[in-house]
Amino acid sequence: MENFVFQNPTKIIFGKGTETQVGAETKKHADKVLLHYGSGSIKKSGLYDTVVKSLKEAGVEFVELAGVQPNPRLSLVHQGIELCRKEGIKFILAVGGGSVIDSAKAIAVGVPYEGDVWDFYIGKAQVKEALGVGVVLTIPAAGSESSPSSVITNEDGWYKRGLTTDHIFPRFAILNPEFTYTLPNYQTACGAADIMAHIMERYFTNTKDVELTDRLCEATMKTLINNVPKALVNPTDYAVRAEIMWTGTVAHNNLLGTGREEDWASHAIEHEISGIYDIAHGAGLAIVFPAWMQYVYKNDVARFAQFASRVWDVDYNFFNPEETALKGIQKLKEFFSSIGLPVSLREAGIDDSRLEEMADKCTGSDTYTVGSFVKLNKKAVYDILTLAK
Ligand code: NZQ
Ligand code: ZN
Repeated sequence: MENFVFQNPTKIIFGKGTETQVGAETKKHADKVLLHYGSGSIKKSGLYDTVVKSLKEAGVEFVELAGVQPNPRLSLVHQGIELCRKEGIKFILAVGGGSVIDSAKAIAVGVPYEGDVWDFYIGKAQVKEALGVGVVLTIPAAGSESSPSSVITNEDGWYKRGLTTDHIFPRFAILNPEFTYTLPNYQTACGAADIMAHIMERYFTNTKDVELTDRLCEATMKTLINNVPKALVNPTDYAVRAEIMWTGTVAHNNLLGTGREEDWASHAIEHEISGIYDIAHGAGLAIVFPAWMQYVYKNDVARFAQFASRVWDVDYNFFNPEETALKGIQKLKEFFSSIGLPVSLREAGIDDSRLEEMADKCTGSDTYTVGSFVKLNKKAVYDILTLAK
């Protein structure tokens, strides 16, 4: 196990009816906020009305900025920054999914910064301060509700890039699983693939002696695999939705990565796909992850065989661990297919005309590698995308 520091400051408020606490919770941080949300799902579900009522009751003034799109855009972030400056706003309340939260975080770092907020996403500047962000979560997926990260798409060149800084951990996150009942099955499935990916990015490591976090990862993955198919059949099963929602947060609040090197190559590759083709991040991961596994599994066959036997209940063939390892990869692929996700670029309607371009963008024209389980250069990323065809 490696040395580590673990601190996750986000206060999680979980369960039925918790959305009514949003006003009082927000009031602890600000008297006036930017209420930031997406394209209307919160209005249909009634969450918007509850949030507005709660803010008013607590005496919190608000200005609204709606219209965050999945794969949130830099142009709306710029609008949000201007609005906060004009209105003297110091706190942002994000009501929605990862895209809304990430857009809120981008606005939060952009307001006090004199240059272009994009500088932070391309490593041209370091964040020194940020406005506070609070969250009411509506989809278990990105884990942004308690992560120090934000992923934004710059329409100028369709670059999708991430920023990680302790300044953007949300102050609080309210999670009521009942508000996930309205998710279309496809969004539930995309969320599940993202959650699974967040665990696997940590699970496939070269760090030795990490039994506790291995087993925590395995338990988290098994919980997800057990509950997601049930949610697709019965979307209003509270018990099932609660398991998935808490799994989504635990998968990405960094507990599972303590003491171990993490990978993140599949995420880097996927961001090129959703950056260009604007598909859901989770769908892109369902395509990339099995291909990445096929490419790298020989680096540690025993770890992949452990994944197969402990997570997918594949019989461990001690005479041929490679066979066990390959069965695990196949099981993962079958799981993604069974919940309605594409597992190849073709199934997502993407042809092979821009593989080279994606591999190039992903590795800064082959000037750096991605991943740490196996370090991938441009050729390796291209080969993985080819396996994903
Ligand atoms: O815009 P609305 O109308 O709200 O509709 C959304 C959106 O169309 C809809 N939705 C959300 N909750 C709903 C609902 N529809 C019905 N009922 C509900 N309860 O779902 C659609 C997708 O929402 P989005 O916020 O895009 O989903 P997700 O949470 O998966 O976020 C994806 C983004 O997060 C980034 C991804 O790259 C992607 O841009 N990520 C952020 C991370 C982070 N900040 O730590 C880490 C992740 O790895 C990821 O990269
Ligand atoms: Zn993700």
